[in-house]
Amino acid sequence: NKSWVLMVTAQTPTNIAVIKYWGKRDESLILPINDSISVTLDPSHLCTTTTVAVSPDFTHDRMWLNGKEISLSGGRYQNCLREIRSRASDVEDEKKGIKIAKRDWENLHLHIASYNNFPTAAGLASSAAGFACLVYSLAKLMNVKEDNSHLSAIARQGSGSACRSLYGGFVKWIMGKDDNGNDSIAVQLVDEKHWDELVILIAVVSSRQKETSSTSGMRETVETSPLVLHRAKEVVPKRVVEMEEAVKSRNFPAFARLTCSDSNQFHAVCLDTSPPIFYMNDTSHRIISCVEKWNRSEGTPQVAYTFDAGPNAVLIARNRKVAALLLQRLLFHFPPQSGADLNSYIVGDKSVLM
Ligand code: PMV
Repeated sequence: NKSWVLMVTAQTPTNIAVIKYWGKRDESLILPINDSISVTLDPSHLCTTTTVAVSPDFTHDRMWLNGKEISLSGGRYQNCLREIRSRASDVEDEKKGIKIAKRDWENLHLHIASYNNFPTAAGLASSAAGFACLVYSLAKLMNVKEDNSHLSAIARQGSGSACRSLYGGFVKWIMGKDDNGNDSIAVQLVDEKHWDELVILIAVVSSRQKETSSTSGMRETVETSPLVLHRAKEVVPKRVVEMEEAVKSRNFPAFARLTCSDSNQFHAVCLDTSPPIFYMNDTSHRIISCVEKWNRSEGTPQVAYTFDAGPNAVLIARNRKVAALLLQRLLFHFPPQSGADLNSYIVGDKSVLM
């Protein structure tokens, strides 16, 4: 009865939606009211690294986030752990002389250590990378045979947007029709090499944590906004088709138009919520004006902007040259030393490895 530890480490980047998910039709399974499309970032920026370990010596499941122990008792963690455990297979490590039978997994406990290479509190989608990485690393440890799109349906139960981080490149989360959520999965539209001219820049407008979580924000919107169903039923389905086409044909003007309009409509739906939800602030609005003016003066869009549930701007430049100009403009309009609340930039190529 020699003691042993078996470990797996995985790294997963976050993703940024260009057609937004906002609103659930089932809160516990996390089923959305519309399809969404995102781009997965390069793993060197905004990514989570998770190590999962199993040992007969562990007495209960435990998890540490950025070195601090956190509770695993929440329903979202429990759903992911249960779904992965139920799909575990036999595991054998000949070198270490370890043999774990499929049925043993129910009684073995896990230690999970997760790190974000960016400030968790910065309001930059950390749960997407976190749950995708947790599910992926556990699936590898437990020799789960299912493919990434099946795993995406498990990650979705941790955080909706997490299902899209199981793939690199551009990814679509298909809302699905079934009540059990088995068809609410992510699929890759194109891989990370397909459109590698794009450069994504994140302007950190505020590193404070958002006031309204996406969970309660979505609930309030679905309960009170007369606009949100119109968006989900009449607007998004058409935009998803157009966005897929724009991405596949690398049509930047169409891509930028759809990305900016969809971000603006998502924030309009937040404003249409009672009481209204304000995720963007004055600096966010000034960034939008800057980009809109620039795009108009060039005659064709150079940069797309999109904002999630917070004031930070995600700016997508059509190529490296435009990205360098964009950085110059941002530094000119929001000089860091002037006390403006735009305080740092993270520049990274879109693309990903898993
Ligand atoms: O998956 P959540 O609960 O973090 O919600 C994400 C919501 C948005 O980031 C605003 C939109 C999206 O599609 O990622």
